[in-house]
Amino acid sequence: MGVNYLRVSVTDACNLRCLYCNPTGCCEPVDRREVLRFEEIHRVVALLAEYGVSKVRLTGGEPLLRKDLPVLVEKLASTAGIEQVMLTTNGVLLEQMASRLKAAGLNRVNISLDSIDREGYRRITGSDLLQKVMRGVREAIRVGLVPVKINCVVLKGINESEIPALARLGKSMPVTVRFIEYCPTVRRAAAAIDYVPNNEVREIIEREHGALSQVAMGAGDGPAVYFKAPDSAGIIGFISGRSSAFCSRCNRLRLTSDGRIKPCLHSPHSYDLKELIRNGAGDRQVRSVLEQILSEKPRYTKLNSRAEEFSMCKVGG
Ligand code: GTP
Ligand code: 5AD
Ligand code: SF4
Repeated sequence: MGVNYLRVSVTDACNLRCLYCNPTGCCEPVDRREVLRFEEIHRVVALLAEYGVSKVRLTGGEPLLRKDLPVLVEKLASTAGIEQVMLTTNGVLLEQMASRLKAAGLNRVNISLDSIDREGYRRITGSDLLQKVMRGVREAIRVGLVPVKINCVVLKGINESEIPALARLGKSMPVTVRFIEYCPTVRRAAAAIDYVPNNEVREIIEREHGALSQVAMGAGDGPAVYFKAPDSAGIIGFISGRSSAFCSRCNRLRLTSDGRIKPCLHSPHSYDLKELIRNGAGDRQVRSVLEQILSEKPRYTKLNSRAEEFSMCKVGG
């Protein structure tokens, strides 16, 4: 599978403290000078587009903490070869940003939402902001950043009981709800948290909505697998990073907030592009490193990577 998709973490800072990601602010932002500037991100994207990257997803940390994100979106959306610019956000700042992002050329958003119960949301994220995020979801739909996908990381004994209610969201609004198996990251976050295998999540949903039938997938789709319920509860997706490996169809690279290219989420290996760029490398030199990364990419899979503790904020999922 050729690489056509780049995930870019634009900042490691976040305005939430999710239990499974950054509960104690343990990924405190690095020095801002270490974070790639928009011109640097744009340069990497433009060069990768020459090699077939056509989709870019902006993540973080919380990408909307970079207040002028629409400026980056506009630059990327107008880059030769880039067909889609997408965003993964926690939604806290989305209500106020959605229309500007749409105008800048953003195609669609995925929104993290692990609970639709006020207290449950506060417990997981550390903030009483559920209603603000829900307004962000509605605004994203209103301005046409669609299809809107809701990302729910299912945590054993924490939001497990909300699975039916979360699945029902797709009945009351036009969103695709996706259940994600928690992937252990920094030790402090991982200590007390366990994942729920998606086959269990599926059983819980089927008890309420009936047997799910799989929706056909296109080549180059991400790791999510999609299903429809007979009672038309919208489309439901599963991202099963723990219980299944999708490496053979992996089409993506990651650019971390501190300027490293990571060929696999699970691999400790990364290539320091920032150093190269800031040392004044010309395009030819950067291209030759990108060619090396692309040729080595198939070697990296979850199965040959030793378990590593990485910062989700820096890598961006
Ligand atoms: P779509 O383009 O809408 O399919 O987005 P996406 O699911 O690829 O991106 P999103 O940022 O919404 O990520 C959802 C979850 O999928 C996160 O938990 C990511 O860590 C996980 N994920 C995305 N891509 C990969 C991948 O290549 N490998 C693994 N293991 N997990 C991934
Ligand atoms: N395991 C699985 N998914 C995670 N996300 C963040 N941290 C983890 C983790 N440890 C998800 C969030 C966000 C997406 C980018 O990654 O739900 O939507
Ligand atoms: Fe890609 Fe690595 Fe995820 Fe496999 S585990 S799908 S190689 S990022």
